[in-house]
Amino acid sequence: MEIISTLEEVKARCKELKKQGKSIALVPTMGFLHAGHLSLIEKARQLADIVVVSRFVNPTQFAPNEDLDAYPNDPNHDRSVTEKAGTDILFEPPASAMYHADHATWVEVPELAKGLCGVTRPTHFRGVCTVVTKLFNLIQPDFACFGEKDYQQLTIIRRMVRDLNMPVEIVGCPLVREEDGLAMSSRNAYLTKEERALAPQIRKGLLLLQEKAKQGEHSAENLYSLFAGHIQKTIPSARIDYVRMVDKDSLEPLETLKDSAVVAVAVYLGKARLLDNILISR
Ligand code: PAJ
Repeated sequence: MEIISTLEEVKARCKELKKQGKSIALVPTMGFLHAGHLSLIEKARQLADIVVVSRFVNPTQFAPNEDLDAYPNDPNHDRSVTEKAGTDILFEPPASAMYHADHATWVEVPELAKGLCGVTRPTHFRGVCTVVTKLFNLIQPDFACFGEKDYQQLTIIRRMVRDLNMPVEIVGCPLVREEDGLAMSSRNAYLTKEERALAPQIRKGLLLLQEKAKQGEHSAENLYSLFAGHIQKTIPSARIDYVRMVDKDSLEPLETLKDSAVVAVAVYLGKARLLDNILISR
């Protein structure tokens, strides 16, 4: 595996590989890699000749009060697991190289970024879209893999690529869970042992909504109350940021479940803000 940290080098290397007729699949990450990230690398290997993984904690997607400085980091572990997973190039630029001091250009999809996570993190997806665009420009991948765990992010990236005719195919990958159902996330590292033991109740609450929907409960408000009741009962110390039933493509909030819809949630538990989602149907 090649480890590259300069923009010039990654650009030149990827250009050369493409000239040789090789296809490239990119897996953008912020490091502290777990099995969810590795599933994306596995998918990337199936798609293309060359797998590039980027490991970059992108400062522009964090607000000043957020966890940029505390974001978990283990470069040696990341290098070892990406290599074992069959990565060809690991790109790990320093923040100073990715952004000029007077960086002034942003890519945004405001319509899809205003709800869900966008309510508490209004500048987050602008940072995500901008860094992903920069990575696409540097690496020129044929494919890029993103997890369904960050459902809003995946939907926004798809729309950005469609609207701006970016020459890359976005591949969505299933959410990978711990054995007890907790969605894998680098931020699970923030949980205490006690919080970690309770965290799978978030998934259980979503499964409860699926069950109730099958039994005929199709009102979003009633489903939200059921989820809130479940969390209140099983993790009284948790606080729900949001629970929303949305159209799976437009992310528009739905009042009633028609055929199927995504229910997305964010829950504060201790120092962590945990995301999960489920596709429910009648
Ligand atoms: P990060 O949180 O490191 O996630 C990198 C990729 O891994 C994202 O596409 C995310 O959806 C996926 N992922 C994380 N946990 C997953 C899980 N349990 N199952 C499946 N996929 C999972 O998302 C980001 O970084 C950043 O916003 C980034 C896109 C890299 C831009 O900075």
